[in-house]
Amino acid sequence: MTDCQGDGEGAKSPMDLYEQLNAQGDKVRSLKTAKADKGEVDAAVKLLLQLKVDYKELTGQDYKAGCPPSEDVVVPDNGPVEDGEDTVDPWTVATTNAKGVDYDKLIVRFGSSKIDKEVVDRIEKVLGQKPHRFLRRGIFFSHRDMHQVLEAYEKQKSFYLYTGRGPSSEAMHVGHLIPFIFTKWLQDVFDIPLVIQMTDDEKYLWKDLTLEECHRFAVENARDIIACGFDVNKTFIFSDLDYMGSSPEFYRNVVKIQKHVTFNQVKGIFGFSDSDCIGKISFPAIQAAPSFSNSFPQIFGGRKDIQCLIPCAIDQDPYFRMTRDVAPRIGYPKPALLHSTFFPALQGAQTKMSASDPNSSIFLTDTPKQIKNKVNKHAFSGGKDTVEEHRKYGGNPDVDVSFMYLTFFLEDDEQLEKIRQDYTSGALLTGELKKILIETLQPIIAEHQERRKQVTDEMVKQFMTPRPLNFKI
Ligand code: TRP
Repeated sequence: MTDCQGDGEGAKSPMDLYEQLNAQGDKVRSLKTAKADKGEVDAAVKLLLQLKVDYKELTGQDYKAGCPPSEDVVVPDNGPVEDGEDTVDPWTVATTNAKGVDYDKLIVRFGSSKIDKEVVDRIEKVLGQKPHRFLRRGIFFSHRDMHQVLEAYEKQKSFYLYTGRGPSSEAMHVGHLIPFIFTKWLQDVFDIPLVIQMTDDEKYLWKDLTLEECHRFAVENARDIIACGFDVNKTFIFSDLDYMGSSPEFYRNVVKIQKHVTFNQVKGIFGFSDSDCIGKISFPAIQAAPSFSNSFPQIFGGRKDIQCLIPCAIDQDPYFRMTRDVAPRIGYPKPALLHSTFFPALQGAQTKMSASDPNSSIFLTDTPKQIKNKVNKHAFSGGKDTVEEHRKYGGNPDVDVSFMYLTFFLEDDEQLEKIRQDYTSGALLTGELKKILIETLQPIIAEHQERRKQVTDEMVKQFMTPRPLNFKI
């Protein structure tokens, strides 16, 4: 059963186009029976053909009367961005709004479903424990088929988690940790296996880096991921450059996916052009393959029907819209998804943190002093210019980066709410708010560094070796 909000209801609805095609088909037929003027018939046929082309472009399927578009049509919503729209794709996140991307609009554009209070309550009920703060606070804000996963779980049917990281440099920042912190929680509460894809091949194709560098970054980044506390008996981390060549089952799935996605479709979804190298054009199949359980025979014993749940930032959704579109056509279940918002740059929520701009990010290697200086110097403030004005009019937490960071990292809901109220009323000054953030972040980063130090080469090797996991089918 799919969730009631349905997939594929993007702005340019395939259903609208389908209905328009039906109507146009009827018109052509009636003009012909009425032996209408040839020019009129020709014009109607021409329009019909154009609509068919549009339909194929939009859905990747051929129009057939009596055969409405299948759900999960691949909507090319990452095409040219219209004025005033946010840009969100795997490579760019940008908006002109200081509050950040309009996530409700993205849900409509991408055709996913909102994680509203009802979904959060349901998760709480199924788990019998308090949902993670990322769920309570709308940081994981959108999903696909989560109800299906929960229903299966209630019936004691297992599923597995899949997430990943593109290792483009050694330097990871706190924003990179968000999906992993959440995935670690999911692994603990559901007690299920997890696969983590390090797309070193992707970074080689997209960036000016050598294969060796990308592979080294994959291993280095794996240390930071392991430091998040994953259970080695339930987690497999793999570099594409290593695993693709050693797993016939994985490669077979890649090829199956490649056969079922056209160049037109990936152009529509990812905006590839004729001058992009062919590695990029076929890469989406590699990111799709871990969504299918038989890509990991050592873990799932060749079973192809184990449901996958993918926690990721919303910019990765294009890959998985494509994956969900091909899945039923090659006989696999569609992966379910949980989408997160972005971790804003220090300068403001108009864009996400970027590892290539040191002043936009808090790195996992930053010292307590660096953290303090960066927050004090660079964190965009929603406060007023002078203390007098601030006391009188209050600050705006909705655009204040320090407050936003606290929503990610401060565990206590009541304390967070009090900070919001005091900042809004003017009782809490910007400097004081920043101090709370600094004191929250410093121990989190220091503890991460401590755990990372404990990660030995031997442990990395263990996590990255294909092997059975502690998992009963
Ligand atoms: N493409 C992602 C990146 O550049 C990495 C990735 C691969 C991923 N598989 C994933 C992210 C699954 C989330 C979920 O970071």
